Amino acid sequence: MTYHCLHVLASVKMVAGVSEGEVSTSVLCFILHPTDSKMKPKSFMKVPGSSISLKINGKEYLVDNSLDADTSLNDFIRDGAGLKGTKVMCREGGCGCCVVGVRTFNPHSNTYQPLRALSSCLVPIYACDKWDVVTVEGLGSCKTGYHAVQQRLADFNGTQCGYCSSGMVMNMYSLMSGGGEKLTMQKVEDSFDGNICRCTGYRPILDAFKSFAEDATPELQQKVADIEEAWKGMGMCPRTGEVCDCKDDEARGSSSGPEPYVHLVLSGSEWYRITDLSGLYNILDSHRSEKVRLVLGNTGVGVYKNDGPYVTYVDLSGIGDLFSYSLKARPMEFGAGLSLTKMIQLLDEASQDNAYSYAAVLAKHIRKIANVPVRNGGSWGGNMMMKHDHPEFPSDVFIALETAGASVKIGSSQGERTLTVKEFLKADMEQSVLLTLYLPPKSPDTAMRTFKVMPRSQNAHAYVNAGFAARIHPETFVVLAPPTFVFGGIRADFDHATQTESFVVNKSLADEGVLQAALNILGGEIQPDSQPADASPTYRRTLAQALFYKWVLGIVGEVAGGRMRSGGSGLERPLSSGKQSYTTDKDTYPISEPIPKVEARAQTSGEAQYVNDIPHFPEELQAAVVTTSVGNANIKNIDPTDALAMPGVVGFVDHRDVRGENTFCKLSPPFNLELEPIFTKNRSQYAGQPIGLILARTRREAEEAVNKVRVEYTDAKKPILSIRDALARPDETLMKHFDPLMPCESYDEVVGKAKYTLEGEIEFGSQHHFYLETQVCICVPVEDGLDIYPASQSIDDLQDVVAQTLGIPNNRINIRVRRLGGAFGGKISRANMPAAACAIAADKFNCPVRLVMNFNTNLEAVGKRLPYLIKYKVGFDEKGKLSSVGGTIYSDVGCSYNESMASFAAIMSQNCYYSPVWHWKPVSVLTNTPSNTWTRAPGTTEGIAIIEHIMEHIAEKLGKDPLAVREINFIHEGEKDMMGKPVGPNQLPVLIQQFKESSQFPQRQDDIKNFNQENRWRKRGLSVVPMKYPVGYPPFFKYGILVSVYHQDGTVAVEHGGIEMGQGINTKVAQVCARELGIPLWKIQVKPTTNLASANSSVTGGSMGSELCAHAAALACKELMGRLEPIRTKKGQLPWVDLIKTAFQENIDLTSKHFYTKMDELKGYDIWGLACAEVEVDILTGEKQVLRVDVMEDVGVSMSPLVDVGQVEGAFIMGMGYWLQEKMKYHPDTGKNLSNSTWEYKPPTTKDIPIDFRITFLQDAPNPHGVQRSKATAEPPLCMSVCSLFAVRHAVSAARNDAGNTQPYLLAGPATNDEIQAEALTHPKDFKLR
Ligand SMILES: Cc1cc2nc3c(=O)[nH]c(=O)nc-3n(C[C@H](O)[C@H](O)[C@H](O)COP(=O)(O)OP(=O)(O)OC[C@H]3O[C@@H](n4cnc5c(N)ncnc54)[C@H](O)[C@@H]3O)c2cc1C
Ligand code: FES
Ligand code: FES
Repeated sequence: MTYHCLHVLASVKMVAGVSEGEVSTSVLCFILHPTDSKMKPKSFMKVPGSSISLKINGKEYLVDNSLDADTSLNDFIRDGAGLKGTKVMCREGGCGCCVVGVRTFNPHSNTYQPLRALSSCLVPIYACDKWDVVTVEGLGSCKTGYHAVQQRLADFNGTQCGYCSSGMVMNMYSLMSGGGEKLTMQKVEDSFDGNICRCTGYRPILDAFKSFAEDATPELQQKVADIEEAWKGMGMCPRTGEVCDCKDDEARGSSSGPEPYVHLVLSGSEWYRITDLSGLYNILDSHRSEKVRLVLGNTGVGVYKNDGPYVTYVDLSGIGDLFSYSLKARPMEFGAGLSLTKMIQLLDEASQDNAYSYAAVLAKHIRKIANVPVRNGGSWGGNMMMKHDHPEFPSDVFIALETAGASVKIGSSQGERTLTVKEFLKADMEQSVLLTLYLPPKSPDTAMRTFKVMPRSQNAHAYVNAGFAARIHPETFVVLAPPTFVFGGIRADFDHATQTESFVVNKSLADEGVLQAALNILGGEIQPDSQPADASPTYRRTLAQALFYKWVLGIVGEVAGGRMRSGGSGLERPLSSGKQSYTTDKDTYPISEPIPKVEARAQTSGEAQYVNDIPHFPEELQAAVVTTSVGNANIKNIDPTDALAMPGVVGFVDHRDVRGENTFCKLSPPFNLELEPIFTKNRSQYAGQPIGLILARTRREAEEAVNKVRVEYTDAKKPILSIRDALARPDETLMKHFDPLMPCESYDEVVGKAKYTLEGEIEFGSQHHFYLETQVCICVPVEDGLDIYPASQSIDDLQDVVAQTLGIPNNRINIRVRRLGGAFGGKISRANMPAAACAIAADKFNCPVRLVMNFNTNLEAVGKRLPYLIKYKVGFDEKGKLSSVGGTIYSDVGCSYNESMASFAAIMSQNCYYSPVWHWKPVSVLTNTPSNTWTRAPGTTEGIAIIEHIMEHIAEKLGKDPLAVREINFIHEGEKDMMGKPVGPNQLPVLIQQFKESSQFPQRQDDIKNFNQENRWRKRGLSVVPMKYPVGYPPFFKYGILVSVYHQDGTVAVEHGGIEMGQGINTKVAQVCARELGIPLWKIQVKPTTNLASANSSVTGGSMGSELCAHAAALACKELMGRLEPIRTKKGQLPWVDLIKTAFQENIDLTSKHFYTKMDELKGYDIWGLACAEVEVDILTGEKQVLRVDVMEDVGVSMSPLVDVGQVEGAFIMGMGYWLQEKMKYHPDTGKNLSNSTWEYKPPTTKDIPIDFRITFLQDAPNPHGVQRSKATAEPPLCMSVCSLFAVRHAVSAARNDAGNTQPYLLAGPATNDEIQAEALTHPKDFKLR
């Protein structure tokens, strides 16, 4: 049965460029962007056996054989069905923004499975035959009413930029619809390991979804009751969001099962779907000479993208045998197609049997693999085949199964064979299929445990994973039989520690000598390889030994000394929670009213449009960026011939096609000192530098052709990849020295006069913005020039850059920005590059061009946060009071001196402290990496971190409490700051007093001391960082605003010159307008920003855009109200609509404009804040968890408390990512970015946030100088997040003391697990029992 749907007809008509009549007389089918006019429209008639069909939100779609085999469900949903609510970013299963709900057919049970979340980017569309897919549009919209999940996420302020929101909603919806177990808060918290949100810090998202749980806290329930009057309580229908009688499954309509046999001849490949093994063997035998891809979940492509190309695909999801299992059989049996999620459930069930109690260990380990949507799709069989084909893959399935002593059955037309898991890894799998897993029963005296230590709490591959299993005598702890000690992450050819396995047989693990000898043997046989993307071999070897030690400690229990025992367990994370305290002023509502963001529901329903959601234009071409592959080389030749011969490719542009200037920059000191090329010509300054664009009919065709552009390099030199690399070369051309601030002739002499002096060095790393919407731009040639849809924070610059590139006047450029899917500074200057490149292509081919940078290219091509190296020398007295601070601040600017922030960091290094002498020498250092750029709180974060490290260092040197050292250095009212300006009232003493009372700080300090004394391998740390963040309003900030009131109904449209990117600028502007005009908020619509109404508006950044646009809005509204005043005087208080109608009749202009400039004479102010973090560290592994964070900030009277809480939480978590886990690595020889994927780059996830997260806004602190009495919030909290690094440092210091080293030391950021373990001086010689 096929459903016709006008909505889809429209999109097919539009996409295919054929008439509606043609489409409606036949069955719907889908063709991907045939934008090339030479392409003939495909047949729309269904040819038997030439298509598959699926339902999306209950509507049936037919997919003919015209697509590539690797076209994903996501491609189809977005570009075929035209449903843009489902987003896409990484295409690796690593971000979660593409999650949809699916019901698929289980060939074993012959039923449809309950709805489950899947990453739509990984699923091939041809695997979706007869699938029932639910996207965010299927839940609700402004027209049909919003679903409870959408509402709750919006109302709990769980969206900022909103790019992650539909994935969040669909993950939650699938969880609620999945049936089975009751929904608990724990279950919710365990189910969001695959959804990244860079903006919110997760707390409000988790709260929103936990409010659906049966055990939701009274606070959450109360919040729901407060928000939704019509709250109907628990047990609501996930479809309607209300208590109702409908059966959700029925409501969706169930599809009949898939076609038993599918054979599609696609262009360049074939797709089969079969239902029995003999059919499969036939296909394999008849394609002996070809590379065949067996498809189960297809999640393997998220890890190994380049395994193809394949000419034959065989979908195994219809073979019932692969999905069968038996928990009654001995050994237990599990079909190879069972998903990891199903395996977890079955293993938990199996563990009820005494002989299989160990299965719970396996279930726990498999839970640590990937994330919910990947585990829902990925099978254990697929995982094992990945390990088979890529021996270096640190497979967790392999670790679990090998530890359990499992075996597997393999089938082929030649018969079946059963092999051990290890034998399987070496087996010839040509024309063979993995069929069954056998798990043996085990004797109850088996001590089995597996470990996985990874760079982040979840959704990450292992540094090292390991499994240990042995039969142990319960009293003597003697190993009774040959054990299994298996490791991953060491070397492709290493798995078993065979010598250690042999050594321990018949020996007691409770014997100290045995343990030491075993550790030595293990250390000898574990020889990790050295791969530039991996943690160091030393870490991985020590970690392997530490895991063995942990296993032993766990076995011997109380035989181990009291201080050692806790080393045996891992860090267990309880449920997280948060508290937010703020006051509001009802007299000024809606200003200061805690309301959700004005576009929140549009975001949670997928209605909010981002650049790449704009439907395709007729004749549109897709662009992909060609980049260099080595840094620091000359380019001899660029030859696109092979690429141009690829199917679908239409053209290539490079520097030769630039009619104007080949640069995306404008010279404007002090920040823009160089002209960076759009397309580099003769030189590759870094690996990943853009050379040109390939233009093709589809994104896929363009991206494939990119690799075919041949680039010849000459004179390639080893790239300079860090400040230390540059310093090691005596090459002054790599350095730009800036004048010292507060120059001091003889600084060394001045310092020398101090009672104490201290010298040190500290380094901070880089950070990718991780905006979920990658760099993107659409350019459309039009009659009056060029329409541009960029994702830019700075359209004024972008307008000029594009005009300069094309050599046309500014007034021929039309720009429109609705919103950005995250930016964090990365879309200020850097958005100019894709826009200029896209414009060149649109100009050359005279057609619309869309450039969506793929995630990997984005990471390679675009600059990030500047890394720093600081060499300091300070003087102070016996109390720690500073007398002189100075040294050299090196900042790594990447390949150009643009956006150098070393001087700014120097200024910010004074933070809230007074020193009579400051003498910093700022130096920018060139490296062969992309030119680094603004990244949330740039310069301020690093500047404050510099002085805070110095405070820590001084405290350690003097043996004092670091907070006491900080307090003694606080700047007082009237004292002069570094620039000679007297400071105003200092709020910190008030904040500290309040904080000490509310946080039980002294008590917690004592508790931590005791804890650290009692535990050798677990340590805790606590740190407080205060902040003074100056807000200045530099003269280049200018914003226009246009307020238009419509005379027919009195509704209001507003356009302002700021860019909405999640920070809530639209909400604050709307609140101010509503207040000033005296009308309800719903009467106000905030429109996209254009360069017509908001001409000459400057960059939105530096936390000031919201305030200044709100200020401009207030003045524009006041002006308007002034014009209405005479009518009011004449006619008294009229209702708003009547007032407007009358004004219109009296020829009053109902539009009002204000242009904010420094002429408005807003005064700057300081923001005061305080943050405290408490952490716990596993000294054996380097893992850490943040137990509690308190942030207190002076925000004046918050204009919009929910928005501001969101800014504070989000900024703090982004900072924690920077300080604790996000690491950028480059290949030492080529300079290629090795952290260019979600597999390697790890921003925080839901379980990296503080377990207890408290935000307090300072009460009764209106800002007399601020806009609407408020203060800015977007960046300052990030500056305080360095307290998390110091808390880790304190924990590590405790471990260093235990290791006998009491020398002061500093911990560089990011404090990744390997760094922590090394700094804690963790050494196997100390792995003792007592
Ligand atoms: C974001 C992400 C994170 C991940 N994190 C981890 C992790 O932390 N630890 C870990 O161990 N793994 C991890 N993985 C890997 C994941 O577990 C596997 O991708 C998944 O289990 C593969 O199953 P699949 O059904 O999707 O296989 P597919 O992708 O369908 O197939 C994978 C390979 O196996 C072959 N194949 C499939 N089934 C059979 C069969 N029955 N017989 C013979 N060949 C077959 C295919 O031809 C293909 O070559 C991660 C993956 C992603 C995308
Ligand atoms: S786009 Fe699918 S998980 Fe990132
Ligand atoms: S709101 Fe989650 S990524 Fe922006």
